Amino acid sequence: MKVLFNNLARQWDVIKDEVKPRLDLLFEQSNFIGGAPVDQFEENFAKYIGTKYGIGTSNGTDALKISLEALNVESPCGVIIPANTFVATVLAITYLCKLKADIQLIDCDEYFQIDTKLLEKCLKENRNKWKSCVIIPVHLFGHPADIRRIVELASEYDCKILEDSSQAHGALVDGKKVGSFGDISAFSLYPGKNLGAAGDAGIITTDNEELYQKCKSLRNYGSSKKYFYDFKGYNHRLDTIQAIIVDEKLKHLDKWNNMRIEVAKKISDLMKDIDQVITPKLAPYAEKNVFHIYAICIKNRDELQKYLNENGIQTVIHYPIPIQKTKPFSYLDHFNNENTIRFADEMLSLPIHPYLEDKEIEYITTTINNFFK
Ligand SMILES: Cc1ncc(COP(=O)(O)O)c(C=O)c1O
Repeated sequence: MKVLFNNLARQWDVIKDEVKPRLDLLFEQSNFIGGAPVDQFEENFAKYIGTKYGIGTSNGTDALKISLEALNVESPCGVIIPANTFVATVLAITYLCKLKADIQLIDCDEYFQIDTKLLEKCLKENRNKWKSCVIIPVHLFGHPADIRRIVELASEYDCKILEDSSQAHGALVDGKKVGSFGDISAFSLYPGKNLGAAGDAGIITTDNEELYQKCKSLRNYGSSKKYFYDFKGYNHRLDTIQAIIVDEKLKHLDKWNNMRIEVAKKISDLMKDIDQVITPKLAPYAEKNVFHIYAICIKNRDELQKYLNENGIQTVIHYPIPIQKTKPFSYLDHFNNENTIRFADEMLSLPIHPYLEDKEIEYITTTINNFFK
């Protein structure tokens, strides 16, 4: 049997009858940049997350970049991010040449999220060195970071919060969606995300009107009125075709997230007797993990991955090289980040998507059981 890591074609089957007429209309009208589909998606997504505004962007990295620039913080600025994240989080900071950013990488807790005790220590030791500070928590793998505590610390130490919610569309803390806690939040809509386009796409959410206006200009050459420029911006607009696709998918997001949770529960139940495998748990500070990724921890990870591959089961490692060990960011290695380094050797992401079938789940877990026999 072959088990794919993700299966986006099954989502297309669900939305295609709704998407096709909207695409037909778009091509007939040929209004390919911006327009009603982008406005409509921005409004629907902001409503879904529980913020006043949504600003569609070209991708998640650009959403992070524009959001950070819109915050307009003074240099020198401390920018604090989790060590255990995708490289785009740190890349976005370094694109802002005029921001003298002192980037701090904070280790993760057992739920793979930024460790708020270490975050507090970092703020205590460094905050008075900086004129401003931005905390970028990442809700990794679909599991919320301890955002309540982060909001408290940001208020105590006068920091802005830019949530990187790229992996957690629909995840909850105390009944509120992630992406609605910080000053501003960036989402990737990369195809494999819980809400994924048919290409690159992203969106920013915020309650702050000034940030909203600034982000809208920044993504459109720095212009709020055609041919008038307030500052230097970018071409980082959300593609209209992608807006139609994610707008239709948004209607199914809660259902698909709940299906992912069911799949994760079944996989965890079927592996509960394998002592060597640590399955993902929900942190006491979180309410709903939407399982963008289902990552297990295991000592002989590479051998298991090879075995699963030989048996037709696709897996991925998120992420094999911690940021501080990558070539462009090796200069950031000023913390031990023990958990992040260990997880890079032990984590293995198993297939997860809403349409993973029971027979596929059984095949994955039986194969893992066989590996240990
Ligand atoms: C945590 C995180 N941040 C940022 C990004 C960047 O998003 P994109 O690939 O859409 O630029 C991604 C995903 O790719 C991500 O997983």
